[in-house]
Amino acid sequence: MNANTPLAVLILAAGKGTRMKSALPKVAHKLAGLPMICHIIRTCESLGAAKIIPILAPGMDMVAQMAAPHACAIQPRQLGSGDAARAALPLLDGFNGQVVILVGDAPLIHGETIRKLAEAAKETGIAVLGMRPQNPFGYGRLVQDEKGLCTRIVEERDASAQEKAITLCNAGNFCVDAALLPALLDGLTTDNDQKEYYLTDIVALAAAKGRACAVVEAPVTEVQGINDRIQLAAAEAALQNRLREKAMRDGATLIAPETVFFSTDTVLGTDVIVEPGVFFGPDVQVGDDVIIHAYSHLEGVRVENGAHIGPFARIRPHSHIGAGVTVGNFIEVNRTHMRAGSKSKHLSYLGDADIGEKTNIGAGTVIANYDGFNKLDTKIGQNVFVGSNSTIVAPVTINDGALIAAGSTVTGDVPEDALAIARPQMNLREGRASEYRTEKQALKKKKG
Ligand code: UD1
Ligand code: MG
Repeated sequence: MNANTPLAVLILAAGKGTRMKSALPKVAHKLAGLPMICHIIRTCESLGAAKIIPILAPGMDMVAQMAAPHACAIQPRQLGSGDAARAALPLLDGFNGQVVILVGDAPLIHGETIRKLAEAAKETGIAVLGMRPQNPFGYGRLVQDEKGLCTRIVEERDASAQEKAITLCNAGNFCVDAALLPALLDGLTTDNDQKEYYLTDIVALAAAKGRACAVVEAPVTEVQGINDRIQLAAAEAALQNRLREKAMRDGATLIAPETVFFSTDTVLGTDVIVEPGVFFGPDVQVGDDVIIHAYSHLEGVRVENGAHIGPFARIRPHSHIGAGVTVGNFIEVNRTHMRAGSKSKHLSYLGDADIGEKTNIGAGTVIANYDGFNKLDTKIGQNVFVGSNSTIVAPVTINDGALIAAGSTVTGDVPEDALAIARPQMNLREGRASEYRTEKQALKKKKG
């Protein structure tokens, strides 16, 4: 393909998405942690598209923000996919090249497929993407001539029984020469069952001008539309499989890949072992030789080489886990930096803290980082030993080498190398246990 032909991409996203039964616009629903519209925008950015223009309905400000810095076109009333494409024409003014029109609800399309579509459109000026779903119900069908070129697209509800038997369906994506597009869109009518301007009718209009439409076929898992929550889940499953395979190809071991969930931006190093049931939320980067034990949930964290996480660990955003750190079972880490070699192995909450190298946090330690109004910081130096079941009431600084006795409630700074014991003293009374039992038994007898 001549890489110099500039591409503009229109993303049709103004539809009501009624079948999602949601207060959220359809394209704002997420797949692998990223809104659908952002998936498509990223793919188009990676193609080096000269213009990316999402087409939105009035009031879809949330989606406009997701699409920034790309300027969106607004379709004032939802009169159909063809009318939506028309709403973007002012933003294409003066553009010479190819216009790719994508449906906003098929976010898993590959950049390579868009390239193929653009290449195919060079011959006659127009190309459509086809697919063969197992159940074609609901999709437009591609009517082809003897050469395999598409002369017409017929929607399910407008199709004859014979047309319904066609297995090649419209995936909803087109590429059209910029010079042809305005006239084709101008020719659309609402002469169909839904009384809408169907974008699909540009194919018959082009064929009437002697420009039959080229067809590029793509796998269903890549291009199927998402119209309801069932299709959303199917697309999520397809995407997760892609991400799992990528992680494994890049050198991570997933013991039970089907149980691990990724975000699109998850990065795993080499020789990472991920046990079953691990969830990676957005913004997680993991170094080499890290083990993430079963049922851990990570988001917004950078995990350095050789760390051990979980089982049952929760790491929340703005955290940093240093090299060789252990975050053990039932540990929650939140906005916290655990520096190299530090350990927290059992049952702790560590929030808004900076924990120094080789420091050991005992079982059941809680950092009380919230006073009901503000989140407060804690600094713990290196080689500190925090005894089990301690409560560290922020804001507090525990300096290098300090020792906190088990069960302490630390409410003030602890100097370097100091021992802090902040708990009631043990009260010991020899022989008192049997005395107590005798008294209680006597009382019980008296009551009868
Ligand atoms: C559409 C195609 C159908 C194809 C299917 C693939 C048409 C007429 N039909 O059907 O041939 O098989 O996609 O998934 O295009 N939109 C607007 N403004 C509107 C109406 C729709 O922007 O006024 C947008 C929607 O947000 C969506 C796209 O256009 O991204 C397609 O609309 P949708 O209602 O999903 O059409 P389908 O019934 O899926
Ligand atoms: Mg659709």
